[in-house]
Amino acid sequence: MTDTIDPNIHSTGDFGAPTDSDRNSLSIGPNGPLLLHDVRLVETLAHFNRERVPERNPHAKGAGAFGTFETTEDVSKYTKAAIFQQGQKVDMLARFSTVAGEQGSPDTWRDVRGFSLKFYTPEGNLDIVGNNTPVFFVRDPMKFPHFIRSQKRLPDSGLRDNTMQWDFWTQNPESAHQVTYLMGDRGLPRSWREMNGYSSHTYAWINAEGERFWVKYHFISKQGVHTLTNEEADELAGTDADFHRRDLFEAIGRGEFPQWELKVQVMPYEDAKTYRINPFDLTKVWSHADYPLIPVGTMTLDRNPKNFFAEIEQAAFAPSNTVPGTGISPDKMLLGRVFAYADAQRARIGTNYAQLPVNRPVVETNSYTFDGHMSYLNSGDAPVYAPNSFGRPWADEVGEVDNSWESDGELVRAAYTLRPDDDDFSQPGHLVRDVFDDAARERFVETVAGALEPVIEPVLSNAFQYWKNVDAEIGARIEAAVRERHGDQQPGGTPLKEATPVG
Ligand code: HEM
Repeated sequence: MTDTIDPNIHSTGDFGAPTDSDRNSLSIGPNGPLLLHDVRLVETLAHFNRERVPERNPHAKGAGAFGTFETTEDVSKYTKAAIFQQGQKVDMLARFSTVAGEQGSPDTWRDVRGFSLKFYTPEGNLDIVGNNTPVFFVRDPMKFPHFIRSQKRLPDSGLRDNTMQWDFWTQNPESAHQVTYLMGDRGLPRSWREMNGYSSHTYAWINAEGERFWVKYHFISKQGVHTLTNEEADELAGTDADFHRRDLFEAIGRGEFPQWELKVQVMPYEDAKTYRINPFDLTKVWSHADYPLIPVGTMTLDRNPKNFFAEIEQAAFAPSNTVPGTGISPDKMLLGRVFAYADAQRARIGTNYAQLPVNRPVVETNSYTFDGHMSYLNSGDAPVYAPNSFGRPWADEVGEVDNSWESDGELVRAAYTLRPDDDDFSQPGHLVRDVFDDAARERFVETVAGALEPVIEPVLSNAFQYWKNVDAEIGARIEAAVRERHGDQQPGGTPLKEATPVG
């Protein structure tokens, strides 16, 4: 008995007996009615009806590949995690995606790209589920479903809608940094191989002495960062909806194995209390002058999936999968995500999705969760409860936990406390003024103006103000570009024109 199907033997039914026919159903005479006792026909049709699982909401369109991660540097003074000890090499899986589009949508639409990594470490699975940008649109998980809905489809027409997208962004000014990235060149990567990946969030690292650090992961593409123009991306969206999926699969098939260098920014635990921005605010980056990049190791993707559904569609990445020496942080978004992913996967794939080969750790497990739909692994007749007197081990940690932090005890509903340099517009302003060059700024104005074309009032005026808050000059240029195309549309005026969805 093996765990896989052997495609070389005579075809069987699901229970092993040879199949009579995979081509002709059983009928009374060649032209007669069909028979319910044609077990193979019933099995074939009934199983077909159950072939799909719900697509991910969000990040439905994507693909991935397997490979290895090797720690080449000594970072043991920051973390005791086995995966990050010099010389350690582990197997891994990566999945890249767009956020808003559905499974069949073009993967070259302008969007943030998902950058999901699963490391099969000697201490269990470590998942880093990040994006190709170091920041995010919002900083409270309560807003996340609203954000995603605003980027997906209208309730009546089922169309995507620029007004809805910009309404959400302008109503939530903390989005400005991420929207600046999105509307800039990096919003259209040329391929998944040519983009960086970021944890975006701050995570914890803990060393063997129990010392704690805050860390941000940066996966820097060794292929370089290259992007598409609006025209190229539009053309590709119309001619090859799977351009990025195809690029990765074919490159690996040709033996061109993409690589990324992992570097980390490390902040001593105590610094976080007084750093001039809130270091757990996902809409901000940490200055590289304050916290320079420290090299850790290299990730290489060298193996394509053999079966897309089994290994990519059923893959379940979750920020809750941490290993000793790593941990989460008080970032509210991350705290929300730590709940959300495993919950989504129980619903999307099934209760026992952790037992599927792609999600199984390479270490033995001894979990007290058991039974449920499609349970395959089990603990035999071992005690099903803890503590027990019959020898099945259970965990009993008490007291301070090594990846903890202090917090104030009162329960409140409130935004993060602001620090001296915490505002929503300084960092995107810096990106536009100091990181983009003249040509990039020109493309940026063109892209934003294009995206604002179908937007109706009052959202349009809000969007002009949003960009003036980021940078007065860039805001004025965006407004002028839109007005030039559409005349002097005033707040409360008639819609500019019918919406044409843009990716
Ligand atoms: C509170 C905020 C968030 C919530 C509630 C949330 C929720 C989700 C859910 C439910 C999925 C689908 C999971 C599945 O079905 O397997 C997903 C996918 C994903 N999310 Fe988030 N998300 C949040 C924020 C973020 C952020 C900040 C990032 C990046 C830093 C991110 C990156 C991703 C990626 C890359 C995927 C695709 C995972 C894959 O490849 O399978 N999400 N998210």
